[in-house]
Amino acid sequence: MMRSLRGRLFVGLTAIILLTGAVGGILAYRWAYSEAIEMQDSVLIQIGSFALSAPMRQSRPVTGVDAEAEVAVVELGDAPRGATDDRRLRGLKDGLHNDVYHGQPVRVLLRTRPDGSRFAVTQQTEIRTEIAGDMAVRTLLPIAALVPCLLLMTALVIARSFRPMLRLAGDLDASRVDDIGTLPTTGAPSELQPFLDSINGLLRRTRVMMDQQRRFIADAAHELRTPVTALSLQAENLASLDMPAETRDRLDALKSGMRRTKHLLEQLLALARQDAAPSTVSAAVELDKIAKGVVADLLPEASARNIDLGFTTVETVVVNGDPLSLISAVRNLVENAIKFTPDGGAVDLSVHREDAMAVIRIEDTGPGIPPQDLARTGEPFFRGGQPSGEGAGLGLSIVKRIVDRATGSILFENVTGAGRSGLRVTVKLPLADR
Ligand SMILES: Nc1ncnc2c1ncn2[C@@H]1O[C@H](COP(=O)(O)OP(=O)(O)OP(=O)(O)O)[C@@H](O)[C@H]1O
Ligand SMILES: [Mg+2]
Repeated sequence: MMRSLRGRLFVGLTAIILLTGAVGGILAYRWAYSEAIEMQDSVLIQIGSFALSAPMRQSRPVTGVDAEAEVAVVELGDAPRGATDDRRLRGLKDGLHNDVYHGQPVRVLLRTRPDGSRFAVTQQTEIRTEIAGDMAVRTLLPIAALVPCLLLMTALVIARSFRPMLRLAGDLDASRVDDIGTLPTTGAPSELQPFLDSINGLLRRTRVMMDQQRRFIADAAHELRTPVTALSLQAENLASLDMPAETRDRLDALKSGMRRTKHLLEQLLALARQDAAPSTVSAAVELDKIAKGVVADLLPEASARNIDLGFTTVETVVVNGDPLSLISAVRNLVENAIKFTPDGGAVDLSVHREDAMAVIRIEDTGPGIPPQDLARTGEPFFRGGQPSGEGAGLGLSIVKRIVDRATGSILFENVTGAGRSGLRVTVKLPLADR
C-alpha cells in the first residue's frame, strides 16, 4: 500500500487515463476502420454508376479516384474466350461480392447495363484494408497526443494541490521550539482544517505548559533567594564572632556554599527571565559602551589574578535591544573567559562592524572547549565532560537565549596555533538602522 497520498492519486489517475485512452482508442479504431471500408464500397458503387451509362471498349484501371486505390472497371464480354476469372465473375449476381481476381482477393461490384452488357468494378482487398487501416490509425493520433498531456496536467494539478501542505510543514519546521506560534488557517485547504485546528490546539497547550514551567522556575528561584540571602547574612554575622580555627574553616566552607547557591539562583532567575515573554524593552544600544562597562566591572577580578583584560579594537556600534539583557550576555562571556584563563593569561575583546553586522569577539588564553563538548556547549547545566572551576552551568544558555532573541548568532571556536590555546567567542547582532 502506497503511503503517499500524492503517489496514490497520481497512480490512480494515471491508470484511469491510460485505461480510458486504451478503450477509447480501440473503439475509435474499430469504428473508423469499418467506416473506411463502407466508404470504399460507396466509391465502388459511384464508379459503377458512371460506368453504367458509358460502356468502355476495354477493361482498364480507373484513374482519378486515388492513385493507390487501384480500382478497375472490367468489361465482362459475352465471348466465352474470356479468362476463367471473367467467366466466374459473370456468374455472380449484380451487387457487391468478395471474390478472387487474377489470383488476388478482391471486392467486386457487378452491374448490368440496360443493353444487357455486364461489367465489374474491382478493388484489391489488401489495398482496401491498408487504406482503412491508415485512416483508422489517423483517428488514434489525437488520443495518443492527449494522453501524455493529460498525465502531465494531472501531475501538475496534484503537485499544486499539495503545495499548501508542504508549506505548512515548512512553517512548522521553521518555528523555534520556544517560539511556536499558531499555524495560519486562512488559505489552507478545507480538508486540512481539522488537522490545523488540532495542531494549533496542541501548540496552545504546549505553550501554556511551557509558560507554567518557566514561571515555576522563576518563582522558585525568586522564593529561594530571600531565605538564602538571610542565611548568608547570618553566616557573615557569625564570622565576626570569636571562634576556633576549625570552626572558622567550616564556616568558610558554608559561606562559599551559600555564595554558589546564590549564584545558581541568580543564573536561574536570569535564564527564566529570558525564557519568559519577550522583553518589550528595545532601545538603540551602543555595544562598545556596554563592553567597556563590563570590562571596567570585571577589571579588579582580572588584575587580582594577573590577567590582562582589555580591548584590541573598539568601534562605535549601535544595535537594537534590551540593554540589561545585552549587559548580562557580555558579562557572562567575559566572566567565563576570566574564569577559565589561568593566572597571568590574557582576555581580549573586540567590538567592531563586519558585513553590516555588529560583532563582539572575546578571546582568552584558557584551555578552550574540547571539540567533543562544543556541540553541547550552551545547554543548561552542561559544564563540559570534566567540569572545572565553580559555576552553575547556565551562563552560556542565558547568552544563547539573549542572542537568539536579538536575532543574532553566536560562534565558539578554539584558538589553535603556535603553542597557543584559548576560546574565541564571536557574537553577531544586527546593526540598528538609523
Ligand atoms: N572561555 C572558556 N574557556 C573554556 N571553557 C569554557 C569557556 N566558557 C565556557 N566554557 C565551558 O562551557 C561550560 C558552560 O559555560 P557556562 O558559562 O554556561 O557555565 P559556567 O560558567 O560553568 O556556569 P555559570 O556561568 O552559570 O556560572 C563551562 O562550564 C566550561 O566548561
Ligand atoms: Mg559562565
